[in-house]
Amino acid sequence: MPGTLRWGILGPGFISTLQVADLLGSGFAVTAVGSRSVTAARVFADRFGIAKAYGSYSELVDDAEVDVIYVGTPHSHHYEHARLALEAGKHVLLEKAFTVTSEQAAILVDLADRSGLVLLEAMWTRFLPHMVRLREIVAAGEIGEVRTLIADHNQKLPADPKHRLNDPALAGGALLDLGVYPVSFAWDLFGEPTSVLAHAAMTATGVDRQTAIILGYEGGRQALLHTSLDALGPNTATIIGTGGWISVEGVWYSPTSFSVFESSGQVIERFEETVEGRGMQFQAAELERLVEAGSTAGTILPPSESVAIMATLDEIRRQVGLEYPADIMRL
Ligand SMILES: NC(=O)c1ccc[n+]([C@@H]2O[C@H](COP(=O)([O-])OP(=O)(O)OC[C@H]3O[C@@H](n4cnc5c(N)ncnc54)[C@H](OP(=O)(O)O)[C@@H]3O)[C@@H](O)[C@H]2O)c1
Repeated sequence: MPGTLRWGILGPGFISTLQVADLLGSGFAVTAVGSRSVTAARVFADRFGIAKAYGSYSELVDDAEVDVIYVGTPHSHHYEHARLALEAGKHVLLEKAFTVTSEQAAILVDLADRSGLVLLEAMWTRFLPHMVRLREIVAAGEIGEVRTLIADHNQKLPADPKHRLNDPALAGGALLDLGVYPVSFAWDLFGEPTSVLAHAAMTATGVDRQTAIILGYEGGRQALLHTSLDALGPNTATIIGTGGWISVEGVWYSPTSFSVFESSGQVIERFEETVEGRGMQFQAAELERLVEAGSTAGTILPPSESVAIMATLDEIRRQVGLEYPADIMRL
């Protein structure tokens, strides 16, 4: 699976810990980590046996022995940190949500494209084996014409108002952190929506606590999506077609199993596959594959689609009145 690139980790927080475990577990080369604190960088480096620990992000991106930067910082800082890495000539694997706004996303994608660099959204779900098989089944017409997606992403996350999920200054809220998964799934299945309808309830801190979304498509197809950050849900997904349905077991966005039913209710296919680690190595493999192929855009999640997904999220935010401070929307 791994190629020849040397990975640098920007922001050694929660998700970077999981990403690095999967990188190392699959044999990828992680050569450096950068933090705002040299102590935090050193602790992370020692934990994973990473050779170099920097006390600033600029030192990390300027390291000539780093080829690709994984950005694992809060959404509010994705634009700034991805830009820093791209301007230093590095490929970037950028955590979801890609940015805060579609305008920021478009600028990053343009910069990467002009620089001949790969910029891939770390929407790890897209690259998982069960999603690869799902796409094949749908494309083969095994459940007829796909009419509806029903998917949720509901978590019980810390109530601390200072936690990044609850803080508007860090682009918190359910939508950008969790809701982005079902929105991206709907994009994967149906492409661009022709209509967007959203409703949300807000936390006391002013971010969305729970958001319901209906996306409409050509021919009246629909995606019914839900997300919340203070109540755990089943996190299952159902794809309904004119000839049957696919029931993706919880947790649909991480490695899981699914059954394909025909309209009679009979199971016609069962998918089960064990994945090593958490499953975040597949997105890293996609990035390395693109670099190797000399391409800046793959077919599974091209950067233009990450921009378009951000535009859908912009529209949902506009409808529900989810507002962020101006400084994290800046270009
Ligand atoms: N793929 C997944 O399953 C998954 C799961 C959870 C989160 N995520 C995504 O990963 C990203 C980070 O989430 P996380 O839960 O890992 O966050 P986190 O634990 O709070 O870590 C974020 C890291 O970003 C750095 N950082 C830079 N500027 C910051 C600022 N102004 N405030 C706070 N931290 C700042 C910090 O590292 P230093 O101070 O050491 O530099 C911090 O450790 C988000 O985009 C989130 O959506 C993805």
